[in-house]
Amino acid sequence: MPDTLTPVLTSDWAEDQSWKLATYERGGGYRALRKALAMAPDDIITAVKDSGLRGRGGAGFPTGMKWGFIPQDNPKPKYLVVNADESEPGTCKDIPLMMATPHTLVEGAIISSFAIRANTAFIYVRGEVVHVIRRVQAAVAEAYAAGHLGKDIHGSGYDLDVVVHAGAGAYICGEETALLEGLEGRRGQPRLRPPFPAVAGLYASPTVINNVESIASVPSIIGNGADWFASMGTEKSKGFGIFSLSGHVAKPGQYEAPLGITLRTLIELAGGMRQGHELKFWTPGGSSTPILTGEHLDVPLDFEAVGAAGSMLGTRALQIFDDTTCVVRAVLRWTEFYKHESCGKCTPCREGTWWLVQTLTNLEKGVGREEDLDILLDQCDNILGRAFCALGDGATSPISSSIQYFRNEYLQHLSEGGCPFDPVASTLFAVEGVR
Ligand SMILES: Cc1cc2nc3c(=O)[nH]c(=O)nc-3n(C[C@H](O)[C@H](O)[C@H](O)COP(=O)(O)O)c2cc1C
Ligand code: SF4
Repeated sequence: MPDTLTPVLTSDWAEDQSWKLATYERGGGYRALRKALAMAPDDIITAVKDSGLRGRGGAGFPTGMKWGFIPQDNPKPKYLVVNADESEPGTCKDIPLMMATPHTLVEGAIISSFAIRANTAFIYVRGEVVHVIRRVQAAVAEAYAAGHLGKDIHGSGYDLDVVVHAGAGAYICGEETALLEGLEGRRGQPRLRPPFPAVAGLYASPTVINNVESIASVPSIIGNGADWFASMGTEKSKGFGIFSLSGHVAKPGQYEAPLGITLRTLIELAGGMRQGHELKFWTPGGSSTPILTGEHLDVPLDFEAVGAAGSMLGTRALQIFDDTTCVVRAVLRWTEFYKHESCGKCTPCREGTWWLVQTLTNLEKGVGREEDLDILLDQCDNILGRAFCALGDGATSPISSSIQYFRNEYLQHLSEGGCPFDPVASTLFAVEGVR
């Protein structure tokens, strides 16, 4: 087995009561906070810039640069908002992190807030995961009791309050401006930009919004130094990340590794494909990223190489499908999700995702015509780049990429008058059990 894992965020997940403050502090937790409080806030921003950390929520925007956009001459309060909405199909890294070691996130939120001069931070957790909300709330309460939060933190003169907010459970509330709408008590729908949140975000004040994993990476950068972080990964995609393997591999789970690792290596680490089956297709970063195939096993999983291969690194949600899976059915399921989660604000996505489901349903049942494939691509073309936010664009990715690689499988549904796959064998968790 290749020794390529770099457990940092996940290193203590197997510890007894890993979520407790005492366990976290025994492993060196909150030392980076003390170091940070002795630094100038701008030096923390510089360290995060120098580390090369790029947002782990999907888009890969440089984190330190984002913090640098906060106008410090603006007299309004500054806010940090942690995006813990995690709802993208296949994405399952932030929730395990918050369950296993919530203090990594809390410590990261304190250091990040100190750097951008925020005195209030919000952690916006999706509403359905009540167990996660309780765990993060308990960690925040422990941090207050230990003096890591509240007034005059460790005698530094710095005050910070952290509010754990439960969303109402909508995928669109992971989009940062829809999240802000939700946090302000309104219906979660994206805002027009500009102004960007760094200038006018929460309550029209300068706001940094970062993903859980981005913020949780900050203590290790401050504790070990920017060079340590930048020594891992590739030239433009520095550091490590959590790769979430799900689906038809022997050992699905979280594999923390340097950016640039390949799917081939990750599948080896995950014990190979489900016995007797071969890789058919996979998503590099959740269902909004175009699917890839066995040809792409050696693509380095960093922002640049995955982009060059025609997809996106996204959230490193590697959903693995073997040869028992009907690609048309998988794509239909994802499209139904986008239709359901469309917030309705713009016509291309609200109407378009409905039409995509109609056309795909017919194709999957084998009652469509070959021309329906062109209609489907035309429908995608009318959404991509025309929708108000990236949810609409993401809805088209699995469709256009699956037609690119598996056009014949779509046609086979038509020639056979239905799905050619055995529905039992092709269920994600096959009868022999969840592997
Ligand atoms: C429909 C949609 C859903 C999103 N969901 C999430 C999410 O659950 N978590 C997240 O961190 N980012 C999500 N994003 C990306 C955020 O808008 C934003 O880019 C991210 O939180 C920025 O953090 P980062 O720079 O640390 O990656 C979503 C974007 C879109 C368009
Ligand atoms: S693209 Fe979809 S989710 Fe985004 S604003 Fe338009 S309707 Fe809402």
